[in-house]
Formats: sequence, structure tokens, C-alpha cells
Amino acid sequence: MIDVSPRGKESASRAVADTLAARLTALYPSARLVRRDLTAEPLPHLDDTTLRAISTKDPEEAQRLQDAARLSDHLTGELLASDLLVIATPMWNFGIPSALKAWIDLVVRPGRTFQYTGDGVLGLAKDKKAILVLASGGVFTEGPWRDWDFVEPYLRQILGFIGITDVQTVRAEGMNIPPLAASAVAKANEAVKELAL
Ligand SMILES: Cc1cc2nc3c(=O)[nH]c(=O)nc-3n(C[C@H](O)[C@H](O)[C@H](O)COP(=O)(O)O)c2cc1C
Repeated sequence: MIDVSPRGKESASRAVADTLAARLTALYPSARLVRRDLTAEPLPHLDDTTLRAISTKDPEEAQRLQDAARLSDHLTGELLASDLLVIATPMWNFGIPSALKAWIDLVVRPGRTFQYTGDGVLGLAKDKKAILVLASGGVFTEGPWRDWDFVEPYLRQILGFIGITDVQTVRAEGMNIPPLAASAVAKANEAVKELAL
């Protein structure tokens, strides 16, 4: 479970993610829930050395740069070992916060989570489900702002690229529209009950 919002107790996406975590724990008491908080533990952007370390095909270079690949190794390992990925994120400037993009840049990795083949791209993160918990100030499921949503389409596309195509979404939307904000989290918590888990 990836938590992105820095807004702590004020965060709608975190509140709904908490509800989902509680439901998952009740359904699967023996499963391990790994909660990765990108505010408490921010991830670095890719630098030149890390980029080389995670993309080189030369085994000697990979060996020499293994320290620089360690964080990506850990995060891809965590993802590949999971059955369900939950991403709880705000919409910022119509897209995802860069903290989440930093995680994506570390886990979408050739040879680990996808590979190029003669027939195109093969996603290697197989047999997983994902749930997106999305919070936004406006409304994007309908109405004039629909085309401005670069969160859900992007996340679905990039998860599909690495092989995760079973994706469900829960939204707390209208957080900046007072009459909607009042009930947005409660509605999203209700929607959590409808998820196929
Ligand atoms: C830096 C920033 C940018 C934002 N950009 C948008 C936006 O483009 N569209 C929108 O609908 N809401 C936007 N919002 C509102 C948030 O999506 C909204 O407050 C949401 O509840 C944030 O999620 P959280 O409560 O989990 O932190 C923005 C908020 C911040 C702080």
C-alpha cells in the first residue's frame, strides 16, 4: 500500500486507504500489509548512477553499480512479492505528485518489471490486482473536467505496462467543493465495501 499525501490526518486519500486497510486486514488476517509512506520516507529522483545501475545490460557494470540499484531492487522486490497493490494519492495539478512518480521511476524497470520482446512489451508483474484510492479537489468522473484527469488514465496505463491490468478505483472527489467535500470521504468509504477483494 503506497500512501502519497503529506497531509496526515487531513488527507482524504489516507483516510480512505485506512478504511481499505482495515477491510483487508479483516478479510485476510494472516496476510502481511506493507504500508509504504512516501511522506515519512521520501524516495529520491533517479540520478545518473542509479539510472545506469538499473538499466545496464552489462553484468560487470551491474556488479560495480549494485549499491546504486539497491533501493530499486528492494522496491521492485516488494512489488513483485505482493498480491495486491494499493496506491492512495491526491491529484496535484491534474496529475500525480512527484513523490509517487519517484516510486514509479524506481519500480518500472527493464528486466525486473517489464521486458521488451520481439512482440512488444511484456509486463513481468503478473497475477496482481491493484486498487487506486484517488482524492481530488474537483470532480472528474463526470462533467466538464473529465478530460483533465491525468491521474487515473496514467496510473492504469503504467500499471498495465508492467502487467497489472486488474485495477479498481475508489475516489474521494470534490474535496474543494464544500457541499461535496462534506460527504466525499464517507462515500468513498462506502465504495470500499463494494470492492472485489
Ligand atoms: C499542490 C496541490 C495541487 C492540487 N491540484 C489539484 C488539481 O489539479 N485538481 C484538483 O481537482 N484538485 C487539486 N488539488 C486538491 C487536492 O487534490 C485535494 O485537496 C485532495 O483532497 C488532496 O488529497 P489528500 O486529501 O489525500 O491530501 C490540489 C491540492 C494541492 C495541495
